[in-house]
Amino acid sequence: MKFKVNSYHFKLLRDYERLSAFKEAIDDYAIRNGGDSNGSNCKVAFDLGCGSGVLSYFARRYMDKIIAIELNNSTYQLAKENLKEFDNIQVFNDDILSFDFSKLNEKADLIICEMLDTALIDEEEVPVLNRARKFLNDGGEIIPKGMVNSAEAVFMNNHFIQYEDDEYSPIYVSLGESVVYSEFDFMDEIDCNFSAEIELKIYGKEELVDEIGFEERLSQEKYEKFNFKENFNIEEDKLKINGIKLTSFTKLNESIICGPTPMLNPEMLIPMEETELKCSDSVRIKLEYVMGGGVETIRTDVLEIIHQ
Ligand SMILES: C[S@@+](CC[C@H](N)C(=O)[O-])C[C@H]1O[C@@H](n2cnc3c(N)ncnc32)[C@H](O)[C@@H]1O
Repeated sequence: MKFKVNSYHFKLLRDYERLSAFKEAIDDYAIRNGGDSNGSNCKVAFDLGCGSGVLSYFARRYMDKIIAIELNNSTYQLAKENLKEFDNIQVFNDDILSFDFSKLNEKADLIICEMLDTALIDEEEVPVLNRARKFLNDGGEIIPKGMVNSAEAVFMNNHFIQYEDDEYSPIYVSLGESVVYSEFDFMDEIDCNFSAEIELKIYGKEELVDEIGFEERLSQEKYEKFNFKENFNIEEDKLKINGIKLTSFTKLNESIICGPTPMLNPEMLIPMEETELKCSDSVRIKLEYVMGGGVETIRTDVLEIIHQ
């Protein structure tokens, strides 16, 4: 099957890890729910933010009816064209946040919604699911099932928000282990206003040398860009952090979990007030954002340095 796509959806389709995670979860749903659709027990799916229509295409054999909804008109035209031969798929050009689900006169057994992005900040997965979940039948399922987010302290070269997939790759060093700071189950109603206090532990002297290898293993580029001599003096136990890195893990279902891929939640670097500390210290920070509100809603605050 050849899909007509624009350049953004081409990149989404080329990300095989992302696609195979969703395909596996859809296949797994079908296996657990009786395989191919036989029409006797009408099964309905919603594909929210259907884009090129690829996830409806994966689900078409298992469901009696699929309602696919896409906001962007030119993308909707592509989905309509790509899915035209499948009589059980109906494509709507609409904003899910105002879409009148009650006019469908039926609820979904399965909601598929890939409007994900790192920590759920920049796309509308959470507000969309808060609205659509009311139209899920009892015993229904959502793919993906949820998300786990973690954070770690970093020193980074630029002072703006960057993704790991950026054309100009961010240059940074991680200065402590990643800690899980939030976990969501998409079956629950979720408050879009997120706020958490997170304690980030900085590596000890030996771990830092092991993990980062500083002077011996660091590339000349990093060494110069970071002005390492000034910012890091492990001998004298002096370090600086100026950002956090967020990593998101998508729980497709109970057994499939997918880490960052180029087009599915690439790691995100967020600048923070530059703070001096020592090896093995911890730093307590406050992280706030609006899920679905965009990266401009992100706020960070350094609350406290805790000496070991
Ligand atoms: C990350 S893409 C995923 C596309 C497709 N489901 C896939 O997996 O390849 C998210 C899609 O959701 C659409 N979208 C974003 N906000 C929307 C909204 N409020 N209502 C309907 N569609 C929306 C975007 O235009 C985009 O095509």
